[in-house]
Amino acid sequence: MVWTYLNNDFIKKDEVRISPFDRGFLFGDGVYEVIPVYDHKSFLLDDHIDRLARSLFLTKINKPKVWKNIPQIIDKLVKKNNFNNQSVYLQITRGVDSTRSHIPENNVEPTLFITSSELKVNPFRINPERDRLEMNLIEDPRWDRCDVKSVILLPNVLAMNEAVKEGKDGVLFYKEGNITEGASFNVFAVFDNLVVTTPESKRILSGVTRKHIINILNKKKVKVLEGQLELKKIFEADEVWITSSTQEIQPVGKIEDKELVYKPTHESLWFDVLKVYFESELKIKS
Ligand code: PDD
Repeated sequence: MVWTYLNNDFIKKDEVRISPFDRGFLFGDGVYEVIPVYDHKSFLLDDHIDRLARSLFLTKINKPKVWKNIPQIIDKLVKKNNFNNQSVYLQITRGVDSTRSHIPENNVEPTLFITSSELKVNPFRINPERDRLEMNLIEDPRWDRCDVKSVILLPNVLAMNEAVKEGKDGVLFYKEGNITEGASFNVFAVFDNLVVTTPESKRILSGVTRKHIINILNKKKVKVLEGQLELKKIFEADEVWITSSTQEIQPVGKIEDKELVYKPTHESLWFDVLKVYFESELKIKS
């Protein structure tokens, strides 16, 4: 049985209900977080909560009354759900109005919904030599506030569906000649001894994993440049990685119909980063 949390109650997944007058349903008027959980413990939770607070601030959505208890609520939910590794989905919408109107009613309580599902751990941890990812590449179809983790994901969903239909693993976006990010991940590329990742701006979601990986690279004394990833240069990179809370770090092998440089796994920086992802050696086949 899977449990969810809605406003003040833990409710079984099959029984949880929201009103169709919820502004999240009618307008996509809400924000969210996806938090990975390993062995029943949330990973980098504080960073996710900080980003959620920022998304609420930028969208002027009120914090739910139980804001301060969210870590405890997540903890309880994760214990109730039996999977060892979980992906926690947390969404806050502006709330339920009495009628559909672009202008929200006053004093509406935000809706807090949390659920979790089994996290399929990064397949490169199980087999680092598996086929690398293949990506589509399209002009960024999204709005200009990609720094807000908004539930409005229609452009991402359409682009991902197209990619999967074409047998790809995902899709990279570009804008004005530079890679911004992917439909559900940030992007890094390695050129000689320099790691480049798109800088924080309204054009990307500032990933919690992105920050974690920059910290790992800094500790390893690897040079990192938060600078533009030029589309023209990406095909010449020694390595291209994608990063996200659910995918951790994964290497890209092909973009559109172009094979990228193949660097053996044991000489690759992405593999070194993966090994210290949890700040201690991971058990990966080597
Ligand atoms: N997506 N960029 C976009 C557009 C994303 O949707 C995500 C994460 C990221 C990476 O952020 P983080 O490292 O904090 O997970 C970057 C989540 C996993 C999702 O929508 O399921």
